Amino acid sequence: MSTRTFLVTSALPYANGPLHFGHLTEQIQADVWVRSMRMAGHTVHFVCADDNHGTPIMLKAEAEGITPEALITAVQAEHEAAIEGFGISFDHYSSTHRPASKELVERIYRKLRLGGHISSREVEQYFDPERQMFLPDRYIKGTCPKCASPDQYGDGCEVCGTTYAPTDLVDPYSVVSGARPVRRSSEHYFFKLGDFEEMLKSWVRSGRLQEEVANKLDEWFISGLKDWDISRDAPYFGFEIPDAPGKYFYVWLDAPIGYLGALKEFAEREGLDFEGWLSPDSDTELVHFIGKDILYFHTLFWPAVLHGAGMRTPNMVHAHGFLTVDGQKMSKARGSFITAATYLEHFEPDYLRYYLAAKLGPGLGDLDLNLEEFPTKVNADLVGKVVNIASRCAGFIAKRFDGKLAAALPDTTLFEHFITAGEEIQQAFSSRDAAKATRLIMALADQANRYIDEQKPWVVAKEEGRQAELQGICTQGINLFRVLIGYLKPILPFTADKAEEFLNAKLDSFAGLAKPLLDHAIEPYQPLLTRLDAKSTKKLVVAPAVGSDTAPVLNRQQTRSTTKSEPTPDYKNAEPGDSMINIDEFNKVDLRIAKIVEAESVEGADKLLRLVLDIGEDEPRQVFAGIKSAYEPATLVGRLTLMVANLAPRKMRFGLSQGMVMAASDERGGPFLLRPDSGAEPGMRVR
Ligand code: 2FM
Ligand code: ZN
Repeated sequence: MSTRTFLVTSALPYANGPLHFGHLTEQIQADVWVRSMRMAGHTVHFVCADDNHGTPIMLKAEAEGITPEALITAVQAEHEAAIEGFGISFDHYSSTHRPASKELVERIYRKLRLGGHISSREVEQYFDPERQMFLPDRYIKGTCPKCASPDQYGDGCEVCGTTYAPTDLVDPYSVVSGARPVRRSSEHYFFKLGDFEEMLKSWVRSGRLQEEVANKLDEWFISGLKDWDISRDAPYFGFEIPDAPGKYFYVWLDAPIGYLGALKEFAEREGLDFEGWLSPDSDTELVHFIGKDILYFHTLFWPAVLHGAGMRTPNMVHAHGFLTVDGQKMSKARGSFITAATYLEHFEPDYLRYYLAAKLGPGLGDLDLNLEEFPTKVNADLVGKVVNIASRCAGFIAKRFDGKLAAALPDTTLFEHFITAGEEIQQAFSSRDAAKATRLIMALADQANRYIDEQKPWVVAKEEGRQAELQGICTQGINLFRVLIGYLKPILPFTADKAEEFLNAKLDSFAGLAKPLLDHAIEPYQPLLTRLDAKSTKKLVVAPAVGSDTAPVLNRQQTRSTTKSEPTPDYKNAEPGDSMINIDEFNKVDLRIAKIVEAESVEGADKLLRLVLDIGEDEPRQVFAGIKSAYEPATLVGRLTLMVANLAPRKMRFGLSQGMVMAASDERGGPFLLRPDSGAEPGMRVR
């Protein structure tokens, strides 16, 4: 086998909150892969860092009355404790606010500028006149222009799902100070992503991405690669742009460069050739594990930035789906926002590592942590199947044979079968299908248990003259257990450590498993894992804090601050816990054909029209719709459209809104009011 050298990262957690199950899912997926590749004989340098920069971190520090530096130091210590607690085998854990990252950010920026890939232009944005700062979209709230719900964020409405620009909000206010923001322009720097279209198109199709990701990218190519705004104005916690006082690099430019910063520090510590790793000719392989919500940054901006700077590009970007808890997005309000620290207070890390690994396939599908299934699954598989094999055999070896295993295996065919099966298991690990690997391992565990059931060592033990046979059966059982725990070691590092002590032998490589332990003394058996109490997982669900978010939290802590040139998480609307509904829920929506009988502008509202709709009932309905930008009111009268007739009426400044009309819109245009084919009549139900 030819050995390879990998440089592996998982996404950098923001330094403004604890590590939670979303982070752990990713770190565990990456760690299982890394450990399996190491056991297969490859060299893996696995690094990560805290993502230190950005407005939310600056404001959080301010709110806590400390400096951003003090905040990131405190959070880093917390993160590192959680990482250690879960056995994530990073070779180095850094942070982006360090000299190594700064040097690389500046170097890369200079190269891009020299190559003509940076442009600048004035950008008009909302500015908080009290706090004297430009406001990222998530720091502006106001009334949704579409459904008139109050207190909606500047990038989209959580009530009706419409996305819009902050300047579309009705009655905007700054989340930071409450002041009404004013529009102000300043010079921004842009990375010209479009310069890299050809390069990206071939990069995307060179086997570095999951198929579904490559397809997603094709859609992004079709919608066009726009310039990327990489600068932010002071005050900002980040690195200042060289030769541009008061301008800072946007956190999303320096975050992935933080991967390199971490590698650089690690290489310096170990005396490895970091500059060689940066070369496009490097024979190392750069692998990033990320969540699907940050694909755009990793599959378009990041390879283009690296290429533009004359550096190597990633060899693989592997995206995973979101983690839901009991089918819902993790939410502070529901108490299902589970942190790494809370988990570790109650449970062994290997249980969660196993449960998640068993669900982590190679695709982007979401995975659910079901708090009832969690103990059942780990009890059935790990306690019931795997460690059970050792506990069924170890006692006899200790008591009857002074801890000594027999000199030969009675069933070499079965042992060989376990070894041969290892090829498929390793293949599954290496193709990032831990779920398949665990299925294959559990199928072997069933066979091992069947062997013991059939050989009945407890019966043999009672019969005179069958001692050698007993030692053989138990030696076989212990050796099958050893192979299984060896295969599981990437997933269960803590249990494997204990198993090594029990077996008195290391489980360092997959190849090493092929040689059975014979004529070898083992230690007395101590339970390797104990059964989880089925109700115990209740401890993970904490009562929501008073005043906690009522909206579900994103998989990550720092809310994204988007501007026009930055993508909003594209899969946001595809999370089942979030927007998937079943047919009963769908049927609750009373969708009707409506005839617009009156339409007029609303005084004091820039974006709204007042519509009166006939939906086949005695009383017509009044609805305020944010469609003024696209329609002359008079042209709408007499037209048919679709309306949600059973939306709870909402009192607005201008009057009561008794439903919602339906219109399509996104960054390509709109709103486009929907209209049925001719023949439809007011009041018809839409199904
Ligand atoms: O979304 C996030 O949580 C970011 N902190 C991830 C950064 S990953 C990389 F680009 F550094
Ligand atoms: Zn809305």
